[in-house]
Amino acid sequence: MAERGSFGRLGFILAAVGSAIGLGNIWKFPYITYANDGGSFVLVYLIAILLIGAPIMFAELAIGRRTQLSAVPAFLTLGKGGPGGRVWGLVGGVGVAAGFVLLSYYAVIAGWTVYYFGRCLAWSLRGYDLEGPELGQLFGSFLADGSSQVTFQLIFMALTVGTVLLGVKQGIERVTRTLMPVLFLIMVIMVISSFWSPGFPEAIRFLFTPTEITPDGLLEAVGHSFFTLSLGMGAMITYGSYVSKQQSLPRSGLLICLLDTVIALMACVIMFSIIFSVPEAERATTFSKSATILFTTLPRMFYELPFGSILAPLFYLLVSFAALTSTISLLEVAVAYVIDSFGWARRKAAVVVGLGVAALGVPAALSLGASQALSSWAPLGPHAAGVFGVFDYTVSNWFLPVGGLLTAIFAGWVLKPEIFRSELEEGHGPFRLFLLTRLLLRFVAPVAILWILWAVIGGRSFA
Ligand code: TRP
Repeated sequence: MAERGSFGRLGFILAAVGSAIGLGNIWKFPYITYANDGGSFVLVYLIAILLIGAPIMFAELAIGRRTQLSAVPAFLTLGKGGPGGRVWGLVGGVGVAAGFVLLSYYAVIAGWTVYYFGRCLAWSLRGYDLEGPELGQLFGSFLADGSSQVTFQLIFMALTVGTVLLGVKQGIERVTRTLMPVLFLIMVIMVISSFWSPGFPEAIRFLFTPTEITPDGLLEAVGHSFFTLSLGMGAMITYGSYVSKQQSLPRSGLLICLLDTVIALMACVIMFSIIFSVPEAERATTFSKSATILFTTLPRMFYELPFGSILAPLFYLLVSFAALTSTISLLEVAVAYVIDSFGWARRKAAVVVGLGVAALGVPAALSLGASQALSSWAPLGPHAAGVFGVFDYTVSNWFLPVGGLLTAIFAGWVLKPEIFRSELEEGHGPFRLFLLTRLLLRFVAPVAILWILWAVIGGRSFA
């Protein structure tokens, strides 16, 4: 078997932060925060990151680095002899499957960001020419245009496969090391430019003043903390397996959580400064509190801002970068599994798995209006319509929470505490928060996640 790849110190942080920062931060978090009236929702999200996300992050990184294996064989190795034994391999397997499905439709959304980058570039060069409603129509007809959907999805998959097949150091580390600093820079420029926007003070007030929160909002905040940190499906186990023993896992894990959260909040400041610049009376008609806000209203707002024709394409470029560093990690989970468990060469694994994911993504891409049959397919009931909707519903509501639950139970109850502790202390020194981490994994995280699943069973959807 070829030698196992490894990350450099900074390379690992950037790759893991790149995995965490994605459409979840820039597309999903702002709109769910807007829909849940900000304030308290943000607070609950922050608490969930700290009390549930961070300990599971530590657990995944430790499982990966300890075994130097990807998700399935890592669980198999550590589970051997303990309660449950080889059954734990299934947890890894569910993770690989979840990543496969998640990537198939995530690449479709990522394709939209590439399309809007091109669109905005064209507008910036020859002048912006659409009204608000026309922008909505543009997006609607883009979604319903099957060949565009598939083309952009395939472009994105090709970029992802191209990176992963070059290897951990030459591909993943090199690409994330280049893109992440650029992403941070664009983000900072945009936040600074929002200081001058008339909506800025209200955006800050909206984000940080406690408001009412519904039980559904609570659940959504907890559920999103998994998605945004790339937890619950072995992505951080896989990346953890490429980390050197000299590196501190608790420090790295906390830094990943911190940077992911900061970027999510920055994305909110940028978007809400724009939204709150519109007078309140107009806002309700201009901004639907929906998932499409990034594409249906934001472009026009950009072109009303000073320097908008520079900021608009830059912004969509940034979102594409963020998405690419996430799709890379999603593909790597399945590719590493195939390499570890079947001994395939990396190139072959990346191309074959990538083709499989791309093929699965085609029906998802065609289920946004292009194909009537695919768009109305709803085997799970009305809350998940169309192939795209069904995939998103299943992954966000079932796979990730169940994966996170089982990972927490594994790390808290099955994994020997000496092993867990020694892995967290390797390259770190005495880890004073170990007991707290273990307590959170044993009790707090499982109870919180079971509560989410209970709500899902009761018919609630986070997709
Ligand atoms: N965290 C990414 C985002 O916020 C999505 C993602 C990438 C992901 N890899 C993952 C989610 C693994 C769950 C598991 O967009």
